[in-house]
Parts: sequence; structure tokens; C-alpha cells
Amino acid sequence: GFDLDINEKDHLMIGQADSTKLAEEYGTPLYVIDEMKIRENYRKVYQAFSKYYSDFQIFYACKANTNLAVMRILEEEGSGIDAVSPGEIYTSLLAGFEGDRVLYTGNNVKDQEMQFAIEAGIRLNVDSVSQLKRLAKIVDPDGFKISFRVNPMVGAGHHEHCITGGEMSKFGIKESEAVEVYQMALDLGFNPVGIHSHIGSGILESEPFMLAVETLMDIAGNIAQGTGIEFDFIDFGGGLGIPYHPDEEELDLDNFAQEITGLFKEKLVHYGLGKPTMCLEPGRYIVGNASYLLTRVNTIKESYRKFAGVDAGFNTLLRPSMYGSYHHIVVANQARAPAKEQIDIAGNVCESGDLFARDRLLPEIKEGDLLAIMNAGAYAFSMASQYNSRPRPAEVLVKDGETDVIRERETFADLLNKQVLPPRLLK
Ligand code: LLP
Repeated sequence: GFDLDINEKDHLMIGQADSTKLAEEYGTPLYVIDEMKIRENYRKVYQAFSKYYSDFQIFYACKANTNLAVMRILEEEGSGIDAVSPGEIYTSLLAGFEGDRVLYTGNNVKDQEMQFAIEAGIRLNVDSVSQLKRLAKIVDPDGFKISFRVNPMVGAGHHEHCITGGEMSKFGIKESEAVEVYQMALDLGFNPVGIHSHIGSGILESEPFMLAVETLMDIAGNIAQGTGIEFDFIDFGGGLGIPYHPDEEELDLDNFAQEITGLFKEKLVHYGLGKPTMCLEPGRYIVGNASYLLTRVNTIKESYRKFAGVDAGFNTLLRPSMYGSYHHIVVANQARAPAKEQIDIAGNVCESGDLFARDRLLPEIKEGDLLAIMNAGAYAFSMASQYNSRPRPAEVLVKDGETDVIRERETFADLLNKQVLPPRLLK
């Protein structure tokens, strides 16, 4: 089960703040982020791995949560950033990350985007031969440091959409061509200093990850032997899962780190790869459990089924609709009430697929109750939209009971942002 902090009024506490008070003060739907959880999660990963391999660096995958305050917190913690777009690079720089702490792993990157990254002094992790050739025209390749994303033919993940290794995946260069591609980069004058892979997301066991490490290290070994390249860094991407369901087991991080670094070190020695920096790019693990989505029940409907209708929808949190993901739900204003009935929790978007839960066993829910949707820190706000012309919610950051608004709730005016009526349609 999950460790919940519940006060004497049976209200769910987040970062030592009463969730029902937050909902009253800031309105709903509302994302509430617990600052200390982010810091704890970061430190857990950092300490687990650096205990076994001292030259270890985290590149937080900011696609999980790009809020500026969240990124500032991770900058303070010493993280780097895995960025996938110029927008993420822009946000990283604003958050205070120096260019050399940002790795740009784009997919189907266009020339202007590479240009932007180069001007910002950011390391490019190249995803295709096409990108390499175009890069050679944009920048003077002489000694220019790059790395490659390799597809290690190992895939894993909580959903088909999140598996990024293997022969169906659009990411990275082909494993069997890796030596050739690194040689091509050398021939063009580049200085390839790194190798990268990311096999998928939501991984809760070490097995698929071990396989990816083994494969990538063998590829790195072949490249080093075939081309004489010395790697400054080897990056295994992200994918560390978190339990979404109370029955799911947490990743045993110490064991995971020990196994992975063990294999990593063994392969370093085997191939004479020296002592490169080992990198990981966790996103979900760092921010996933640090945030709750608070949403108010406004309608109890008994039609063919019993529904509790809330004031958020898949525009606010897409994961249940998109991946069928389970998100645990707590009745925040009666967090100790025993489970009583099975009920569907439905959003307010005009689509049947807009459900946060089907047949969920919960305490009896009344109109006006406040629900807390858990583990809403990763791929939650960052995937939110204004669909159905719903302004996106506010985000607040809580620490030691103190609250700061870190993103204001959008207004109707924001729905029209950048829209222009042509003069002939003006009234
Ligand atoms: N590195 C690379 C190159 C990635 O593509 C990703 C995620 C990560 C790191 C971070 O993965 P994480 O540690 O967060 O699993 N929207 C989906 C997840 C998509 C992940 C895409 N890439 C979801 O809500 O489950």
C-alpha cells in the first residue's frame, strides 16, 4: 500500500499542508507538488548508484514535468537535463542549467533545432545518420563532441507506446550499424564521446534493464575496438518505474543499482573502456509520486452504472485514457473511510473514454467530496491540453506546510492566446 499522511480530521496531507484547504484556497482541479519528495527521489537514485560507481550523473528527463520550479529544484540538487526539444532546452536554460549539463536527445530533429541547440552550447545526442550528415553541414565537425542514441533491440515498458527499443521502434541508430556510424562520424571530423540508449518506461524489475546494459556495453565495446574511440560517457536512458497500484512493489533501488553497476564495471574492464561517466535519465521516478491531482466531485449519477463525475478530465490527466493506466484515488476529505462500493470516476470531457477509473472500490462518495489522484507528477501536467476549451489547472508547490503557486490557473483569455481573426471576419 501507499504511505499516506492523514491528519486528525481524516484529511489527506501533502507536504504538511491540508489538501482540503489547498483545494478551497486555489480551486480545483489543482496539481499539488511536494518539493521534498522530488529532492528525496533524486537523492535516492543518486546515492544508490554513486555508492557503487562514483562517476555517476543523472540527467532528469524533463518531459515528465517541465515546471520551472521543479527544474530549479533539480538544478539545485545537481542534476543534468535530458531535453527532447528546443522548448525543453529553452526552459532548462531559464531554470539555470548550463549548456553542458543538458543533453539534447531529439527524434526527427530539423536543422533549425540543431542550430538552436548548438548556439546554446548543448550536447547533441544524434538519433539518425540523416541527422549526422545534416549536422556536419551546420557546424564545423572538427572536434565537435557528439553522442549517438543506439537502438539496442531490447524493449520494455508498461505499455506498447512506451517501448522504445527493438525493431519496431523509431528511435536510435541500428545496433548492427553502430560501428560504421561512429566511424562515419570520425571520418567527418566529429569527436564522438558518448553512447546512449533508452529501452522504455515504467520498468519495475532489473531484468530488461540488465539486458539493455549488457547489449549497449557490448555495442560500446565493439565501437571502441573497431574505431579506437574512448567514451566520456555511457547513458542508459530512463525508465525506472514507480508503483501506481498499491499492490505493485517498489523498485529495489539498492539492488538494482548494485546489479547494473556490477555488470557495467565488468564490461568496462572486459572491453578496456576506461572509466567513463555512467548516466541515467529518470523522469517518472524523480517526479511521479511527488504530485497529486485534486479534483472535486460535482455529480453523482446512477444511470446504467454508478458514476462520480469530477471537475478534471483527460485534458488534465491523460494517462488513464491514453494508456489505460491505473492511478490510485483517495477521498481526500475522508482519507480513512473504509472502501464501500465500486464506482466509475468520470471526467468532464465530452468523450466516453474520459474516465479516471472503472469499477474502483472506494468509500461512499458524495457530491462535494475532494478526490486526490495519486502519482500525478510525471507525464501529467506536461501532457495536459485545453481540449474542450478547458483552461489548464494551477500548480502549487508545497514544502513544510508552506505553499507557493508555481503556475497560475489559465483563464478563458489563455484559450485564445495567439489566435487572430482575419480583418474580413471582424464584426
Ligand atoms: N530518456 C529518454 C530518451 C526518453 O525517451 C524517456 C522517456 C526518458 C529518458 C524518461 O523515461 P522515464 O524515466 O520517465 O520512464 N508518457 C508516457 C511515458 C513516455 C516516456 C517517453 N520517454 C507515460 O505517461 O507513461
